[in-house]
Amino acid sequence: MSGNNDRETFRACTDALLRPCDGAWVLSNPRTRRHIELDAAAIAAFTQHAAGASEELWQEALNGAQGHDRTAPTGESGLWGDPTGLAPCDGSAVSGDALFALLRRHLFVLQDGANEYENFLAPQTSPLDDAHLGTFHQRVGQTLLRHRVRERWRWWHNQKFVDDGTAIQAAPYKLVQENFFDRYFANADIAGERILDFACGNGYFAAKLARLGANVVGIDTSEPLIASAQRNYGAAAEFVHVADPQAGLDWLAQQEPDSFDRIYMSDILLLLLTPEDGKPDPDNVTCLLSALARLLRVGGQMHMMEPNGTTWLAGRYGGEAGRNYVIVPEYRRPVFNVAPTLDRVMELVGAAGFVLADYRHPEISDDSSSDPALSAYANEFPLWDFLTFRRWPDDGSSLGDIRAHA
Ligand SMILES: C[S@@+](CC[C@H](N)C(=O)[O-])C[C@H]1O[C@@H](n2cnc3c(N)ncnc32)[C@H](O)[C@@H]1O
Repeated sequence: MSGNNDRETFRACTDALLRPCDGAWVLSNPRTRRHIELDAAAIAAFTQHAAGASEELWQEALNGAQGHDRTAPTGESGLWGDPTGLAPCDGSAVSGDALFALLRRHLFVLQDGANEYENFLAPQTSPLDDAHLGTFHQRVGQTLLRHRVRERWRWWHNQKFVDDGTAIQAAPYKLVQENFFDRYFANADIAGERILDFACGNGYFAAKLARLGANVVGIDTSEPLIASAQRNYGAAAEFVHVADPQAGLDWLAQQEPDSFDRIYMSDILLLLLTPEDGKPDPDNVTCLLSALARLLRVGGQMHMMEPNGTTWLAGRYGGEAGRNYVIVPEYRRPVFNVAPTLDRVMELVGAAGFVLADYRHPEISDDSSSDPALSAYANEFPLWDFLTFRRWPDDGSSLGDIRAHA
């Protein structure tokens, strides 16, 4: 060890990975989603002092070495942007003191005993907080704030749909979500059913269910999205705007019990259980699920199409056209946390009186998309989970009884 005991010692972060990438070597941390490209001299210095050395020794070893910052802000490249946070090389290299400062700033080199790494891996305390990694949703919120985006809903809407909401974008929303939706419901025999699309957004999916002969009601808290739904699909389905989540609960409470045969929801549970402000309200989610259970007839089905909790947050590595792999740096104690884990969903949905009847990973149905990296990734990993629950009778009936109701 080359450290000096009466000085501060700096050592390598043990989560750092060195890997070949685009013909160079990149030091990556899948937890912090930070990356620095290093030349051979920088790699030699990093490995030489990894176990601990003073600032002077680090700087000396890094003199003449070169490093490029390859870290991209996570959340800016969109919902389907690679959460790895790796940017292309912009050509501006640093060396010596500046390279040491870069390695420190990106927490590849840590001061002994300072707890700076552990402190960074925590939720943000406010939308302006840059000192913590924060959740995916907080980072998106921060991005929208920085770019002063007024119509916040447009940020996700225009990545999923064309501007006027009449078609879906050719990204995985079409190739995975929509294609699965169309195949599944074409075989589900829903003609004549009464269906609630909870958090229906612009009504695109509600309208599809209506075209298959169902009587569909869509409800959402967004005024512009319900206006869009009414404009495009108002003749096909009924759309209800509720001012806020509580007004939504009130609306649900006013409906007749057992008055729906089926409930559909997509891309909503992740927003309720991992909200942008970092303060989930599980009591409200429980109230909501109980209200939905009351509306669904016994044996009726509730479908949830939700991003797969692990693959959404996992840093994506590997060759673009080859077999991708991911590194999942968190699970039980989530920080970057995009979507709830299945056991959390089961706990909440089960407590409201539903049983899991079916569980699928929608597959990509066309891998000739214009984004080969994304196609390769979607061929390897589930992007969404499609969960089907049945309403369980609250009179202690058996599984046989519930099947008879179906
Ligand atoms: C990501 S979008 C998904 C919309 C639609 N389900 C889809 O798949 O295109 C989430 C939607 O949930 C709505 N929303 C959020 N919280 C809600 C709540 N508590 N009650 C009803 N709608 C809500 C938002 O306005 C938004 O339209």
